[in-house]
Amino acid sequence: MNQDDLKKLVGQKAVEFIEDGMVVGLGTGSTVKFMVDALGKRVKDENLSIVGVSTSIRTEEQAKSLGIPVKSVDEVDHIDLTIDGADEIDDHFQGIKGGGAAHLFEKIVAINSTKNMWIVDESKMVHTLGKFPLPVEVIPYGSHQLFKKLAAKGLNPEFRTVDGENVLTDSKNFVIDLHLGEITDPTGLQDYLAKQVGVVEQGLFLDCVNTVIVGRQDGPEVLDA
Ligand code: A5P
Repeated sequence: MNQDDLKKLVGQKAVEFIEDGMVVGLGTGSTVKFMVDALGKRVKDENLSIVGVSTSIRTEEQAKSLGIPVKSVDEVDHIDLTIDGADEIDDHFQGIKGGGAAHLFEKIVAINSTKNMWIVDESKMVHTLGKFPLPVEVIPYGSHQLFKKLAAKGLNPEFRTVDGENVLTDSKNFVIDLHLGEITDPTGLQDYLAKQVGVVEQGLFLDCVNTVIVGRQDGPEVLDA
């Protein structure tokens, strides 16, 4: 099975956890895209009554196109379960997210959810976080000064660009990726970044997830965090 097959299988497995009447947070990314497809099928085939809370414009458009009702995070009074992808998950179920530049909305939805589930192919499971560059969403104003500060701190920052243009998040902010190699103190790094003026949110998701579904060659593995 290739990576896409594994992503599809975990997406299909995840929707088995969705029950009639639930408010469901819908993450962002290529793995979530398979999950939303599978959820759309359940809504259609079983007449499942759920409300989706989207974490990006992309996911919202996909969900609506499949007939899944969508509300914003501010229109619901609770979220039962959020299903999202991840870029890395370590041995202690701490994660990096934001490879798709959606980690700000993803984190807002996650912290407002009763339960969080991540769905990943097995390549995302690591012993130590940091090989995947840590995404930091920053306000454009003053971002070059902030960049210099992050560089001086030894955090190896790089503006995320496409065709020479800064990538814009759904909130019209920039993303600076930190090429760290290894994150030995995630909490310390989180605290440092939270203090930097101009940082909106960074992609470390610590003590956040309840269940991880890992796509393995012999089938999806469900892990309780
Ligand atoms: C979006 O910004 C991310 O947090 C994604 O959830 C994460 O990058 C996983 O994406 P894939 O499922 O595409 O690997």
